[in-house]
Amino acid sequence: MLGLDDVDLDAYDFLDLGAGTGGSVELCTRLFGGRGLGIDNAPKKVRAAHDAGADVVLGDITALPRRPLVRYVSMCDFLEHLPTYDLAREMLSVAASVATDFLYIRHPSFEDEAYLRALGLKQYWQDWTGHPSHLLLSDLTEMLSEVGASRLQIEYVKPVWHSSDATILPLDAPPDQSGYDPEAHGAKPLVAFTKPVHRAIYLIAHIDGASAPAPSTTPRPRPGAGRLRHGLGQVLPRPRRHP
Ligand SMILES: C[S@@+](CC[C@H](N)C(=O)[O-])C[C@H]1O[C@@H](n2cnc3c(N)ncnc32)[C@H](O)[C@@H]1O
Repeated sequence: MLGLDDVDLDAYDFLDLGAGTGGSVELCTRLFGGRGLGIDNAPKKVRAAHDAGADVVLGDITALPRRPLVRYVSMCDFLEHLPTYDLAREMLSVAASVATDFLYIRHPSFEDEAYLRALGLKQYWQDWTGHPSHLLLSDLTEMLSEVGASRLQIEYVKPVWHSSDATILPLDAPPDQSGYDPEAHGAKPLVAFTKPVHRAIYLIAHIDGASAPAPSTTPRPRPGAGRLRHGLGQVLPRPRRHP
C-alpha cells in the first residue's frame, strides 16, 4: 500500500485530508479542478480506494512538511472524526501551511444540538461514536483565523423545517443510527421548527495574503440545495422564519 513517502507531493494541485475511499477527491476535482491526492490513516479505506483506482495514500497528516505544496486543501466530513479539538486545530494548521490559496471544509452541522435537545430531538450524526468532536462554526472560524485563513465564504446547506424529516430522530434513539425508522427509534415529537435546522456547513477559507479567488474556484451551485451564500469575510445570520 502506498504511503506519503512514496509519492511526489509536487505533482499534485490539492490534498484531501481524511479522504476515505476517495469520493471527496473526485468531488473536489469537480468543484475546483486540479489533480488531488487523498490522505487517510485507515488502511482498509486506503486499500479500497486503491482498488477503485483513486489516488489515496496512507499517512500521518501531521507529518507533512510545513511548506507551500498545493493550491488548496480539502477536508470533507473529516474534522468531526478527530478525537480532540487540539488535533482539529493542528490539522487546520497543517492545511494552512501547505495550501497557497484556500481550504475547503464540508462539515455536518452541530449548530442546533441544544435547540433540538430541548424539543426531545437530535440529528442522527450528532450521536455517532465516530464523531467525538462536535465543532461549531464559531470553533472553526476561530481556529481558521489562528492559522492564517480568516477570509471566509460560508454556506449553510440543506435546511430542515420540520421534525418529520428523516434526519431527525427522537433524543432517546440509540447512538450510531442513520435515517429515522419508527420501528427502531419509536415515536418522535412532531414539531415545526421556528428556524431552519441545517444538515451541513460548507466553508471556503482563503489563506491570508493569497490573492482574491478567481470565479472558477467557486463551486458550482448544486440544483435543489437550499443555501445561503456569504460574501468574503462575512458571516451572516441564518434566516429565522420560513422563506
Ligand atoms: C466520514 S469519512 C470521510 C471520507 C471522505 N472525505 C468523504 O467525504 O467521502 C472520515 C475519514 O477520516 C479518516 N480519518 C479520521 N482520522 C484521521 C486522521 N487522524 N488522519 C487521517 N485520516 C483520518 C477516516 O479514516 C475516514 O476515512
